[in-house]
Amino acid sequence: MENIEPKLELISTIREVFGYIARFKGQLFVLKIEDILLDHPLFPVLIRDIAQLQKIGIQVLIVPGTRRSIDQKLSTYGIPSQFHHGVRITSKEAMPIVELASVGVTETLLSHLTANGCHGVQGNWVQARSLGIVDGIDFQRTGRVERIQKDILTHLLNDGFIPILPPIGWNKLGHPYNVSSTELATALCEYMQVGKLFFIGIEEGIRTEGLQRGERTLNLELNAWGVISALDIHQAKELLELNQSHLHHTQKDYLRNAIKACESGANRVHLVSGLSQGSILHEVFSSRGDGTMVYTNQYSSVRTATADDVPDILRIMQDYIEKGFLIPRTPDDVSEKIADYLVYVVDNSILGCGALHDWGDGHGEVAAIAVDANHRASGVGEVIVKSLIGQAPGRGLTSLFLLTTQSTDWFYSLGFQDGHLEDLPEPKRDKYDRKRNSRILVIKGK
Ligand SMILES: CC(C)(COP(=O)(O)OP(=O)(O)OC[C@H]1O[C@@H](n2cnc3c(N)ncnc32)[C@H](O)[C@@H]1OP(=O)(O)O)[C@@H](O)C(=O)NCCC(=O)NCCS
Repeated sequence: MENIEPKLELISTIREVFGYIARFKGQLFVLKIEDILLDHPLFPVLIRDIAQLQKIGIQVLIVPGTRRSIDQKLSTYGIPSQFHHGVRITSKEAMPIVELASVGVTETLLSHLTANGCHGVQGNWVQARSLGIVDGIDFQRTGRVERIQKDILTHLLNDGFIPILPPIGWNKLGHPYNVSSTELATALCEYMQVGKLFFIGIEEGIRTEGLQRGERTLNLELNAWGVISALDIHQAKELLELNQSHLHHTQKDYLRNAIKACESGANRVHLVSGLSQGSILHEVFSSRGDGTMVYTNQYSSVRTATADDVPDILRIMQDYIEKGFLIPRTPDDVSEKIADYLVYVVDNSILGCGALHDWGDGHGEVAAIAVDANHRASGVGEVIVKSLIGQAPGRGLTSLFLLTTQSTDWFYSLGFQDGHLEDLPEPKRDKYDRKRNSRILVIKGK
């Protein structure tokens, strides 16, 4: 017989992607791309992926990082690169070279966008002023972003262009300043409604090894590579505070700016590596991407199901029904009891479900626990079952039971114990299928 499992997984992934496309269409993504990636063999693939995002209706704005190109050009002209606490000191004589390097990076980006049928455009939309003298250090032609001409950028984005903002800003007299591209990308979030801000470099995300953790960061979501997948803004602040000497400069810079961008209104800020094929697509179109995301709004939640969720609940259960792990349910069965169901949602996608049915006399049945095949072993099932157990007192349910054939050990780990036929409420006992011979598990006195 044909093994339909890979096909079902693929279909589930496609459905998830559809959900994300509907959600992100019309949103603005700001991408800061490090110039160190320009020569990498995967760079054309990264740009192609970005072009695809734009073609499905996501607005894209690019801020190129230019550090490496500026260092190289300065060295060619025999001018030393000077930094103070990671911030470049741009002398008057270095400024034309900085502009030259920025033009070079922008032109490379324009060529790649052209090759993918996209229209990039560059302009003088950033107003800047001198960073001045800080700690006695004169930063000369290094500036900070003062204002961004949002209206023009909005027009360009609405007309289907990809604006490119190299890290150069001008004062009112037209003098150019070298601004930080990370700060420029972050500042854009103050001026525009940004759905996602990406920092794309060679950093794959933040790992927990060697980091100090506090109360909020004890349990963090890790992806399959051990990288922290998601941090809310409070966790990001805690990690930054506790690890000033453990995180390296790029990670601290990312976390600082991610917090700032989120506080300015960006929904999500992602740190992803451009060296890993498809990382940006994976980050956009799946609930657990390759890199580390800092977010403001609630990103995953468990909520009571509604009638609209019935197809998703049936879809998630179907795979397990076919394997005999769950008993079959019709759309009407689920619809009639929809208020008993909880769903686990990440972004707009439903990844798992479960129900708590009231059998009277304080008896509650935990049932229909199922987690989407692509998202198992990520804690989804546990959150659902614990939420159902947590509902019991409020619903006047003092003893919980469930029937399972395949997940006994898993339910033991969540506090269930072996039970007997007598523990079931009478109507359920009468229906007990001796042929199926399910294990009866209970939690009493809840
Ligand atoms: C059982 C199920 C709900 C678990 O959901 P989940 O989100 O994958 O589980 P969690 O992430 O919370 O827990 C994962 C852990 O449980 C373990 N686990 C998962 N299914 C298990 C099972 N059937 N038996 C024993 N352990 C199991 C995993 O190995 C993992 O262990 P680890 O943390 O040591 O790696 C899910 O696998 C599922 O949908 N199964 C099919 C439907 C089913 O059997 N439902 C129960 C009948 S009502």
